Amino acid sequence: MTPKTFKIKSFGCQMNVYDGERVAELLAAEGMSPAAEADDADLVVLNTCHIREKAAEKAYSDVGRLKREDGSKPMIALAGCVAQAEGAEAKRRSQLIDIVVGPQAYHRLPEMIAQASRGARPVDTDMPALSKFEALPPRRRAAPSAFLTVQEGCDKFCTYCVVPYTRGAEISRRWKDIVTEARGLVDAGAREIVLLGQNVNAWADDGLALADLIRALAEISALERIRYTTSHPVNMSDELIAAHGEVDKLMPYLHLPVQSGSNRILKAMNRSHSAEGYLATIEKMRSARPDIALSGDFIVGFPGETEEDFEATLQIVDEVRYASAYSFKYSARPGTPAATMEDQVPREIMDGRLQRLQARINAHQVAFNRSKVGVDTKLLIERKGRREGQMIGRSPWLQSVHVDTEAQAGDILDVTLVAAGPNSMTGAVRQRVAA
Ligand code: SAH
Ligand code: SF4
Ligand code: F3S
Repeated sequence: MTPKTFKIKSFGCQMNVYDGERVAELLAAEGMSPAAEADDADLVVLNTCHIREKAAEKAYSDVGRLKREDGSKPMIALAGCVAQAEGAEAKRRSQLIDIVVGPQAYHRLPEMIAQASRGARPVDTDMPALSKFEALPPRRRAAPSAFLTVQEGCDKFCTYCVVPYTRGAEISRRWKDIVTEARGLVDAGAREIVLLGQNVNAWADDGLALADLIRALAEISALERIRYTTSHPVNMSDELIAAHGEVDKLMPYLHLPVQSGSNRILKAMNRSHSAEGYLATIEKMRSARPDIALSGDFIVGFPGETEEDFEATLQIVDEVRYASAYSFKYSARPGTPAATMEDQVPREIMDGRLQRLQARINAHQVAFNRSKVGVDTKLLIERKGRREGQMIGRSPWLQSVHVDTEAQAGDILDVTLVAAGPNSMTGAVRQRVAA
């Protein structure tokens, strides 16, 4: 039977969120409608993530849970990075899976759904460069802050990471397609666009770089804010840094993962930058945009990491004074070079290091938030808060800010930041700027 309703569940990074939105638009264009819950849907798409441990096991148990009490089940499509990594094996491991579709092939879903409706179990993990973007319908719906993938894939091959295998080689979308999609999103209500890429600052088209793209998008008058993520330190060009000092719409926030503060570990990770090189980039960024909020990713317990290496990571956290950061225990991924390296770090040591690192990161986050108390700024309202009359928006520095207001999602307010918590701020409205 051909499904009439669908539910998409996305896990992992922002690119999976973007992909989930595009799949929803694609299925809607085919005449299907979204269901509120997986239980009510004829088709469930699990848009999976493979980045850390037990990702595949988690995906199979999520599949198992889609079986209903009466023994029935929806049509199940395994999508995303686990689908790419597992391929046809997924069908053997779970009889419940009807469709296996990788992150570069999901524009073919309508055809695969038709095949599955006839009893076939299609698998598509091809990686045809860019063809999914060409096949997707134009943008019709957008949140106040909307994602836009401009670059996908990775050629960096950090020794711990699966992304080069699940997302394929680095490719950049064409300039004009990005501008068209950005205009579509703004027409559909987006006030902020977040440009996405696994190495977004490696974006290039026809001699143009990300800084040029940002300057061009800033010309869209109804677009108020531009962000981009995730950047790689080696692709952080002087032009992009300069744009932070010159383009008002480019928000003062940079997510620039360093992973470790130890040069020995950075080398073993194949990161192709040193701690000093990273700090020099941060310094340049701070001279271009003194109030920049910095964010990063860290891995503790990479094979061979000593107490001294870990101390170097704590030190770089203190030097950068991150406004926020993500930290993870190293997770051995089958097929990656680090998985077979000697001196894998015992779990208890990783646990202890993660706790110490997170405490240090949190202290800097609290200090950053406190430094903004009393500051007048603008807030982009994104959603309702927990209390009646309360809304949540984002400051330019990407802090979540709670505010009592009658304003709606998409409005931009003049606020004073009046209080700081560890994970969010409180704001007081000064006046309403043009809606
Ligand atoms: N392209 C981005 C993000 C990749 S995945 C970048 O290079 O920064 C997001 C984060 O997951 C990484 O920055 C890294 O900190 C973490 N990560 C990736 N593989 C991991 C692994 N095997 N174990 C633990 N953390 C990992
Ligand atoms: Fe993974 Fe490294 Fe590529 Fe980031 S740069 S996606 S961590 S291989
Ligand atoms: Fe996960 Fe794939 Fe993103 S592995 S982090 S969903 S690129």
